[in-house]
Amino acid sequence: MGSVEECMDAAVRVARAAGQVVLEAVKQEKHVSTKSTPTDLVTEADRLVEELIISTLRESFPSHRFIGEESCAAGEPCVLTDSPTWIIDPIDGTCNFVHSFPMVAVSIGFAVKKELEFGVIYHCFEETLYTARKGHGAFCNGLRLQVSKEKDVSKALILTEIGAKRDPETLALFLGNMEKLLRAPAHGVRIIGSSTLALCQVAAGAADAYYQFGLHCWDMAAAAIIIREAGGVVMDTSGGPLDLMSRRIVAAASQEVAGFIVQQLKPIGYERDDCG
Ligand code: IPD
Repeated sequence: MGSVEECMDAAVRVARAAGQVVLEAVKQEKHVSTKSTPTDLVTEADRLVEELIISTLRESFPSHRFIGEESCAAGEPCVLTDSPTWIIDPIDGTCNFVHSFPMVAVSIGFAVKKELEFGVIYHCFEETLYTARKGHGAFCNGLRLQVSKEKDVSKALILTEIGAKRDPETLALFLGNMEKLLRAPAHGVRIIGSSTLALCQVAAGAADAYYQFGLHCWDMAAAAIIIREAGGVVMDTSGGPLDLMSRRIVAAASQEVAGFIVQQLKPIGYERDDCG
């Protein structure tokens, strides 16, 4: 089966290799299509990179399970079991990738018995590698990461993402949630177009919190353990424990900031990842 350490080494190698493929693909013509909504984009590169990652890992770990963004979009089951499971986003920030906006990542999380064991996120443009293993800390290119520990939301820089739904009701809720945080007043609210890289900024202490409705398990898996290991908190938008399949998250540098955000948010309904 391979030790967790062997799995993590393999994840680092394949994330770097995949990142180089993404970087080359940015320069080529992109064939873009849509998935759940007109703003939920996918390219040929997303599928090729996911195939590369899964086939490489499957060769070394044939008994493991794989949850990948594009495999799930193609109808593969998206269910987290007790088996060792790799949770993969081949290109996080596909819209950024399409526009060559330099915030694009490869994200690989690994869970055993539904517990996250490690996460690896590779920032393709900056060629930086974020890693964390349970109980061993979080790192960026080998340097230890530490959240800011900010407790006061009026001194906080908060990140979020819009998600794929753009119907008037969803947009009103999204803007209402953001308005409440701007009125707090948080120092600022930012949208960078990649959930995983936004969450890495919280782990790195460059932002103090992140929240979103509408992201997926492959956006959360690797990043959640990176934030925890950097000393931050991750939770459900209701304030309960994080549920990887729930499509919602609050992550923060302190319980205080996370708790404040939880109190402000009105939920936006998205179908669970494991609903069928
Ligand atoms: C998406 C991006 C986006 C966020 C979505 C994610 P993808 O991932 O992170 O910023 O708003 O919720 O699903 O589709 O680019 O891999």
